[in-house]
Amino acid sequence: AIDISKLRDASGLITLDPGYKNSGSCKSGITFLDGELGILRYRGYAIEDLAEKSNFLEVSYLIIFGELPTAAQLHQFEEDIRKYTLVNEEMKNIIDGFPKTAHPMGVLSALTSALTAFNPKSVNVDNSAEMYEAVCKTMGKFLVIATWTYRKSMGFPLNYYDNTKGYVENFMRLMFELPTGPYAANPVVINALDKLFILHADHEQNCSTSTVRMVGSSHAGLFASISAGVSALWGPLHGGANQAVLEMLEEIYKTGGDAEKYLAKAKDKNDPFRLMGFGHRVYKNFDPRAKIIKKAADEVLGTLGVQDPILDIAKKLEAAALEDDYFKSRNLYPNVDFYSGIIYRALGIPTDMFTVMFAIGRLPGWIAQWKEMRENKEPIGRPRQVYVGHPLREFKR
Ligand code: ACO
Repeated sequence: AIDISKLRDASGLITLDPGYKNSGSCKSGITFLDGELGILRYRGYAIEDLAEKSNFLEVSYLIIFGELPTAAQLHQFEEDIRKYTLVNEEMKNIIDGFPKTAHPMGVLSALTSALTAFNPKSVNVDNSAEMYEAVCKTMGKFLVIATWTYRKSMGFPLNYYDNTKGYVENFMRLMFELPTGPYAANPVVINALDKLFILHADHEQNCSTSTVRMVGSSHAGLFASISAGVSALWGPLHGGANQAVLEMLEEIYKTGGDAEKYLAKAKDKNDPFRLMGFGHRVYKNFDPRAKIIKKAADEVLGTLGVQDPILDIAKKLEAAALEDDYFKSRNLYPNVDFYSGIIYRALGIPTDMFTVMFAIGRLPGWIAQWKEMRENKEPIGRPRQVYVGHPLREFKR
């Protein structure tokens, strides 16, 4: 018989850090952020400069390839992405299999994974031409299928990329051109969206990015890894927060518009309710992205002349929380999701597409992190655990 008392039930010394609050998983040269000081930089460039002076495709190139492109490189990048915006027609059969009520994030994750079936060659990262092609393919096709998730939910025909228009403008066209269109671009809207995509483009080792790296560390391909990233982003504590913000504001509105009541609920430790769009795991002072996007939100609302009671509640809530001791003492400020939800609503983007918008913005970050992980020849991700279950038991019925 086994002498159970002599058996080891621990597995040696293990660092336990649930949620990886203080564990680094890799070395990275892509994004620098300082949560205390509210600093965010891509490849050494301040987010404030990039949001003001650059555009989404230029920032995507910078994040993925490490340097700002020359004018010729940027032009070529746009051309090459355009080349890959055609999505295999058979993908439409897959979309048709989903009910109209399916959440766009679920459909997006499935479609991104399905892209592997039509692009089976896994990327050889040592071959820069192959890597470049995979980058352009992902940037081109992902934008189109992301908008198709919305077209499907509305029962509208699926639109195709217009080669005479820019990437961000194409997003609005793909979403809204006919039967509700023809869509006419408003430069203030395109500019605000461009900024939003830039602000979301990377954020070091957040949950979805770590997922992309983790899946890719088993040498799964780029599309498969990004599909996993989409699923990770969906949750309300991560990218799903922008949808949760609007749902919360709608609930406040429907129940009489009393923002103070919800503020009190959020402070009540016996109530699990949290104010969505407030607080951040890393930024404990302010979210530098929120500062930039608050300005863009004011511009969009002003230009479009939007009158919306939901947006009035958002303003009330923001003002009350910024004055409140509970929120002040815990450094809980509106994060980027609070304002992005407001802009999306003003643009007529349906609430359950908000997280898809985040995914479009985050795509270059996921690609860059996947590429870096493979180029650095990182080992397969495989955390340990501290076992707290039963010690060995004798099998007896
Ligand atoms: N409303 C009310 N109280 C809050 C909130 C909130 N939104 N966020 C944190 N707190 C409180 C906590 O209850 C805790 O209080 P305590 O010290 O009395 O126990 C304290 O602030 C610290 O909170 P933690 O949960 O330890 O903070 P953590 O870093 O783990 O969580 C998170 C960060 C998940 C973002 C949290 O602030 C939250 O749930 N916010 C709402 C959801 C949200 O907006 N998510 C978007 C994140 S940004 C992004 O993904 C781009």
